[in-house]
Order: sequence, then structure tokens, then C-alpha cells
Amino acid sequence: MCGIFGYVGSENASPILARGLKNLEYRGYDSVGIATVSTRLEIRKGVGKIDDAKERLRLEEARGNVGIGHTRWATHGTVTAENSHPHTDCRDEIAIIHNGIIENYYEIKKRLLERGHRFSSETDSEVIAHLIEDNLSNRGGAASSNGSSFEHACVRAFQELRGSFAVLAVRQGEDKIVAVRKDSPLVVGLAENGTFFASDVAPFLEWTKDVVYLENHDLVVADRAGVRFFDQDFAEVKRPVSTVEWDLEEARKGNFDHFMLKEITEQAETIQRACVQDMAVVERIASMIRSGFGVFFIACGSSYHACLTGSYLFSKVANLHVNVVLASEFENYEHFLTDRTLVFAVSQSGETADVLEAVRAAKRRGSRVVSITNVMGSSLSREGDELLLMNSGPEICVLSTKTYTSQVVMMALLVCSLKGDPEECVQRVKGLYMDIYNLTSRSMRERLKDLARDLAGKDHIYMIGRGLQYTTALEAALKVKEVSYIHTEAFAGGELKHGPLALIEEGTPVFVFVSRDNEDRIVSNAQEVKARGGFVIGVSDWNSPVFDRWIKVPDCGDLNPVIQAIPMQVLAYELAIQKNLDPDKPRNLAKSVTVL
Ligand code: M6R
Repeated sequence: MCGIFGYVGSENASPILARGLKNLEYRGYDSVGIATVSTRLEIRKGVGKIDDAKERLRLEEARGNVGIGHTRWATHGTVTAENSHPHTDCRDEIAIIHNGIIENYYEIKKRLLERGHRFSSETDSEVIAHLIEDNLSNRGGAASSNGSSFEHACVRAFQELRGSFAVLAVRQGEDKIVAVRKDSPLVVGLAENGTFFASDVAPFLEWTKDVVYLENHDLVVADRAGVRFFDQDFAEVKRPVSTVEWDLEEARKGNFDHFMLKEITEQAETIQRACVQDMAVVERIASMIRSGFGVFFIACGSSYHACLTGSYLFSKVANLHVNVVLASEFENYEHFLTDRTLVFAVSQSGETADVLEAVRAAKRRGSRVVSITNVMGSSLSREGDELLLMNSGPEICVLSTKTYTSQVVMMALLVCSLKGDPEECVQRVKGLYMDIYNLTSRSMRERLKDLARDLAGKDHIYMIGRGLQYTTALEAALKVKEVSYIHTEAFAGGELKHGPLALIEEGTPVFVFVSRDNEDRIVSNAQEVKARGGFVIGVSDWNSPVFDRWIKVPDCGDLNPVIQAIPMQVLAYELAIQKNLDPDKPRNLAKSVTVL
């Protein structure tokens, strides 16, 4: 959930760290800090976003060619300067930054306290700095031909940690960064001017596209001479260098005020790219579905909604039942898994801890796993038996927009492949290009801005739909609530009179998602709302007398979940703007949820 960035090379580290952290802010943003090493160790850290902290802490004035930086999303300990990273040892000579959770921190801390260490934060992370210090003073980390005493002290400390962690460590007087990764993302960038470490590739794209995706438990030592990789027993290993295909421009806002709007606008293109798959792999997956005994889709948040949409498509179009389970609830279903079960794990980031845990459980039971992710090199991209990439380019806004519609398109592609005609999907997706272009146009935005003005003061918004329009309502409600902080909830149209109708008062806004194939029933649900004073906003290709407001979208049949989601993303964006909120970084949320 936090962002990690490190640099060692020929340049002054602090301006590079400040830029890298800014690019990483979407991973967490309640506090920020850096440590640089010159003749001494310099720490600058505090609460707030990087732009404020940069000025206040004068981040770029820290000196040294070695530096580590962190942007925090609090887990252990409240949001205070003391709890922000880097954390140091008792003498302020060693500094570490950490992403993940140290499960055995309490017992380590207890032991270290007894040995006289003094702690200054409430975090689990701080134990790492003290452990390294302790190993050094114990001489447990004596130098060898295979590394300095600092490196050995780090290795011994890392070996003692349980949980998930990506850690970077530096020490006064040492011109190097020592790093480790276990169940938490960390990638290494190799550039002419030095070596970079980051939680994902986007923050260092402006310096290099040559990247090493670390294996679990890998240790790395980087200094000005280069970088070496080790396994957990500190035996040197080789790791392949890959080239990132993402474009630097894709990771920049360009002329847009926010990444959210940029990413919404990109969808005319990104859904086409979602169809560009190795059809031999798609066909192989389709035959795994046919021959499998039990198919599960597991995911969280918007990815879960895309899977739910997929389940309706599998049922309606391919006459196949698939199970969709929230990754965080999957442990309740694990006992159904066998070596004939097929598990689809869907995650934009490929680092969502709940999803990875479910994948590992499935593998333990011998099930085959198909990974669907946007991030090449992510844990998910490497842990499945088959891989499909979303090809959406970097998604920086905390909200999923373009990757959600890509996931829906990939579901449709799989379903068409099961029917033996993937090209049908490709052609239909091509046909959406102009529709999406129109739905994200300036004039459409003006209309939705107008609606946002009317809704911005509301405390509650409801959304209803049936079938594919129900899953669309779920996704639309998530978008609106997470970015506008308005309580927004979705219901299946048929469920209204089983309870939620009690919530409708004079003027309560209710969005109604309509498709041609179930219009009669959903319109009568809309009438039930209207009869109780509700304010009905229709999302459909025709205007009904029951609508108080109408968002016109073309009817695209099975691809309605793509086309109807887009104006709702725009509306969510406009609501955030109306309420003067930052749409790219909603409060309390992080892009990549790497803790359970
Ligand atoms: O990276 P993932 O697809 O695994 O992320 C899952 C959710 O955390 C994510 O979709 C989240 O719900 C977004 N904030 C939705 O906009």
C-alpha cells in the first residue's frame, strides 16, 4: 500500500527521489520521507502529500548519491511524523523503508527492547533497522568474501522476518542500498546513471525501461559500480533483464488536469488493446474451461465487478456456470478446489494481497490458475499457469476505470472463444470506438457536470439494474462513492421491494440502468421508485416518461457494461470536482492493496 523508491548512482539522489515519490504517490499518501547517505545519514520525513512535504522538508536539499524514499499509507500506527518512514536504529546510522506487514514484529521488538534498543515509532517496520543494528553489534554480520558486514547484518535480519515485506536499507558510510522482497512488490531499474528500486516500474520510466522483476525472497545489493542479486541464503544468482513496453507519456497527465479523466478518455483505445491477445493462449484457456470441473473467478473491488459481469456473460452466452468469489472470502470455498478446478485470478495491479493468497491456496490444492492482470512482472503475472494481460498501459488514478472496461472486454472475448468465434468479440469492440469517443466528449462532460451540480449536495444515491445492468450498477456505485464520498449503493431491480424501497424519500436520486432486453421490468422498478417520490435518472438508449433525467447511451447488448460504465465514471469525476476533492487520490484508499 506504501510506495518505495531508491536510487544509487552518479547523480545527487534527493531530486530523483522527490520525482520518483511524486510518481508513486498513488500507492499511499499520508506521509512521506527520504534518507540519503553522504558523509552522514540524512533523514527528512513528515506528514502530508509529497508536494507539500517537498517544500516543507526541503527534500531536494538532502545530499548524497545514495537515497531511499517512501510514501506511506498507514497500517501499524497513526499518521504522525514519527511513524513515517524511513525508520532508523538507535544511533541514527542505519535507515530502512518498508512496504508490507512484519507479522512477528512484536516478539522481535520485545527482545530488542530487553537488549536496550530504544524505539521511536509505533510501526512494525522500525524493528528492521534495530535488528540490523543488533546483528552488527553482535558481530553476527561479520564481513566475508561474499559481502560487507552491513550486507550480512541485513541478510540475517531479513531472514528473521515473517510476513510480507519489500525493504530498502542504507547505512552511514556505506555507498550502497541493500534490498529484499518477499510477497510485496519491488522491481529494479537499470539505467546509465545508476540503479533504481521501486514498488512498480512507472515511477522510474523516465530514467529507464530496463527492469529486473525480482523473485520472492531475492536480495539485492546495489552500489555505484552496479547491482548484484542473491537468493535468500545469500548465494549470488542471475536475474534476467526485461524491457518495459509502457510508454513514459502513458504515465504522465499530459494536458489533462487529472489522471482519472485521462484514463477515462483513453478507453476508446484501451478496450481495443484488451482484445489483442495471443489467440492460441485464449483458445487453450477456453479448452481448459471446457474440460475443467468447476471454474472460479476471484478478485476484489472493480475487478470483482468485472468478474460478476463475466459470470452473466458465461451464463447467458456460453451456457456455462462459473463461480465468482471475493478474494477476501475465498478461504470459505477453498475446500471445493481439486486438480480439475480452474481458477481465474483477476487483478489490475497483480499485487492485491487477497488475490495472491487465494492463488497460492489454489496452487496448493493442485488447481490450475489463469492470471488476468495489467502489470507485466507483477506477482500475479508470474504465479499463474496461463497469463492474459489487459494491455491498458499504466493506470495511475486510484480508481479503476480503463482497466475495468478492459476486464469486461476480456470476459467477452473468453466467452466468444468458448463459442468458437473470438473474432466476433473483436469486431464488436471495434464498433464501440466512436460511441466511447462521444461518451467522453466535451459536450457529454458538460451534461454530466450539470447533473453532478444537482447531485453534489446529496447524502445518498441509489442505483438499480437487472442482469448485466445490475453489475454495472454495482461498479457505478463504487465509482461514485469512492471519489465523491456520497453514500451510493446498488441493488438488483427485483430486490427493491424486498427492503431498499424503504430508503426512498422525496427527491432521493436513483439511477436506473436499462437495456433493451429487460426494459419492461426495470422500468416498472423505476415506477415503484417514482411513486415514492424518488428522482429517477435513466441510463439507456431511449427516453422514458418515468425518467426525470436521462443519460443517453447506445444499446450495445452484451457490451452494455462497458458503454454504461463510462458516463458514470465521468459523473463520478465531475462530482469530485464539484466537491473540490482530488479524484486521483481519494481519502483512505490506495491503488494497490498489498496487505490482507
Ligand atoms: O489491482 P486490483 O484490480 O486487484 O485492485 C482491486 C481493487 O482494490 C480495486 O479495483 C479498487 O476497488 C478500486 N479502487 C476501484 O476503483
